Amino acid sequence: MATIKTIGVLTSGGDAPGMNAAIRAVTRAARYNGWAVKGIMRGYKGLITNEIVDFHSNSVSNIIQRGGTILKTARCREFMTVEGRQLAYDNMRAAGIDALVVIGGDGTITGAQIFAEQFDIPIVGLPGTIDNDLSGTDVTIGYDTALNTIVEAVDKLRDTATSHERLFFVEVMGRRAGYLALNGAIASGAEAAIIPESETGDDQLKTLIDNGFRKSKNSAIVLVAEDPATGGAMGLARRVEEEYPQYDARVTILGHLQRGGSPTAADRILASRLGAGAVEALKEGQRNIMVGVKNGEMVYTPFSQALSKTKTVKSSNIELVKMLSI
Ligand code: F6P
Repeated sequence: MATIKTIGVLTSGGDAPGMNAAIRAVTRAARYNGWAVKGIMRGYKGLITNEIVDFHSNSVSNIIQRGGTILKTARCREFMTVEGRQLAYDNMRAAGIDALVVIGGDGTITGAQIFAEQFDIPIVGLPGTIDNDLSGTDVTIGYDTALNTIVEAVDKLRDTATSHERLFFVEVMGRRAGYLALNGAIASGAEAAIIPESETGDDQLKTLIDNGFRKSKNSAIVLVAEDPATGGAMGLARRVEEEYPQYDARVTILGHLQRGGSPTAADRILASRLGAGAVEALKEGQRNIMVGVKNGEMVYTPFSQALSKTKTVKSSNIELVKMLSI
């Protein structure tokens, strides 16, 4: 295997708080090991359009506390084509990049897997997404900050929900994954979470209402994962209006608010460890793996396994929300 002299780093897909801390750690750890670093702007798109800049230690000064990503990010359709990836590869080689560190969610890891299949390049992925939906790591970079944002918002909504004795559907992000909804519900003391992974396949809204969520309270907050099957918070509120008109329902969609903000200490530490871990992995000759943390230990997972949908929310936690909200 050719020795690595220069690595490229990029962020791709939805941004997540802590991505900057990860960029910083990758850059500093690489420089510490005597490698040159190139920052690739706008994810895979920047490889295709040749937006590649030299990165030094001070290129990543004063960013550990900042949300978003200084490298910008994009969702790139062209990279899904063989021709697009050829262009990306040519630009990458012309810039002298021997290996890549990509930071993002499942789309980013999928892109890395396909790129590595087409060309013989070492790539290491870091899990950066608020959704927490990647196997191969207990938590992803950005998830903890997003959870804290949700908790802060629900705490505020609770005041008005209680005063008006209303039912609130609070929609959170997660794209087919219920981590933010379920753990957000536990952390904020919500009355229920409606998530895509419910194993019973029952009508979660009907169950909630049939169980009498108002037994001891006159207001309720239900965290809802975005999900085309339920129509999210809007879909559920519409149903309440039609099927259970005795309830006064309101909707709050937290949306992209959850993607911003200064990363929590937990996210900064995770991103710093994983960023340095990516460089360590490349030094060890690892390739086409995602670096994650499981039970406190750094682990390497091949891209294909990291993308397999075996990581599921703990369904026992649905019961926990129910039990603790009586
Ligand atoms: O993957 C992160 C995420 O925020 C998802 O939770 C959400 O479904 C999606 O990205 C939204 O994407 P965009 O910012 O492109 O609208």
